[in-house]
Amino acid sequence: MRDNYIVGIIGAGNMGEALIKGLLRSNLVRSYEIIASARKPKHVRLLEKTYGVHTTRNNLAVTNSSDTIVLAVKPQDMAHVCDEIRPAISKNHLVISIAAGIDFSRLRKMLGPKPRLIRVMPNLPAVIDEGISAIFCGPRMPERYRRFAHQIFQAVGQTVDVREERLMDVITGLSGTGPAYFFAMMEALHTAGKKLGLTDQMARSLTLQTAVGAAEMASQSSLDPENLRAQVTSKKGTTWAAMKHLKRKNFWKTMEEAVRVATKRARQLRKMSK
Ligand SMILES: NC(=O)c1ccc[n+]([C@@H]2O[C@H](COP(=O)([O-])OP(=O)(O)OC[C@H]3O[C@@H](n4cnc5c(N)ncnc54)[C@H](OP(=O)(O)O)[C@@H]3O)[C@@H](O)[C@H]2O)c1
Repeated sequence: MRDNYIVGIIGAGNMGEALIKGLLRSNLVRSYEIIASARKPKHVRLLEKTYGVHTTRNNLAVTNSSDTIVLAVKPQDMAHVCDEIRPAISKNHLVISIAAGIDFSRLRKMLGPKPRLIRVMPNLPAVIDEGISAIFCGPRMPERYRRFAHQIFQAVGQTVDVREERLMDVITGLSGTGPAYFFAMMEALHTAGKKLGLTDQMARSLTLQTAVGAAEMASQSSLDPENLRAQVTSKKGTTWAAMKHLKRKNFWKTMEEAVRVATKRARQLRKMSK
C-alpha cells in the first residue's frame, strides 16, 4: 500500500516497540520506513540503535513524515499528544489509536475532521507476537486502509474485525485484560504446588508448560474448551474431583463476573475521559 508506506509510531513503549519489532520482522515495512517517538532521550537513542528506525522526540516531525500514525501513548497522554500533532494532521493521514478507553468521538474531537481513524485494542502478548488485536474502523473506511491496519497488527499476532464500537469495551474486558486472568490462574497453581511440597522451580515448570500445552491443544483442537475438559474428566477421577470443587465454588460464574466487571470499568473509564 504505497501511499501509506511511512509508518509513524508515537509513544514507542511496550506496545509501540512490539509493533516496530513485528513490522520489521514481517517485512511489511523496512526500517527506513518507520519513524518512532518517545519522551526520554535515552529511550529514543536505544530504539534507534536497536531497530535502525528513525527516531525523534518531536511528534510533529513524526506526523509530517508519516502517512500512517499509530498513537501508542498512555490514555492520559493522548490529549496532549493530539494537541501537539493536530496542526500537521491532514486528510491523507490514517491515524490508528491503541489507547484503551478513548473512543471514536473523543479521537475525532481531539484530532479534528481530517484524518481517517481506526481504533485497535491489542493485548500484551503482542510483545512476543502472540497478541490478538480487535480492529474497529467505523463506517465508510476504504477497504485498503482496513486491510493495512490488519496487516500492521498481524505482525504481532492475530486480528479480528469489530463492527460495533460498543463491543470494544467488552473486548477490553476479555482479551485486553485477559492475559491477567491466565497469569492469576498460573499464580494459584504454582502456589498450590509449592504448598503441597514441590520445589519452587518444579511447581513453576509444571504450571507453565501445562498452561502452554493446554492453550496450544485448545487452539489446535476442533473441540471447544468445554468438550476438551469433558474429554479429560473421567467419572470419580482426579479431574472430576477438582472440577466438582470448582463448580461448588462458582469458578465459571466468578470468571464471567470478572469479565463483566472489567467491561464495566472500561466503559466507566471511557466516559470519564470524555
Ligand atoms: N500494555 C498493554 O497490555 C495494552 C493493551 C491494550 C492497549 N494498550 C494501550 O497501548 C498504549 C500503550 O501502552 P504501553 O503499555 O505500551 O505503555 P508504555 O510502555 O508506557 O508506552 C508509552 C510510551 O509513550 C511514550 N510517551 C509518553 N508521552 C509521550 C509523548 N508526549 N510523546 C511521545 N512519546 C511519549 C513513553 O516514552 P518514555 O518511555 O520515553 O517516557 C512510553 O514509552 C496505551 O494507550 C494502552 O491503553 C496497552
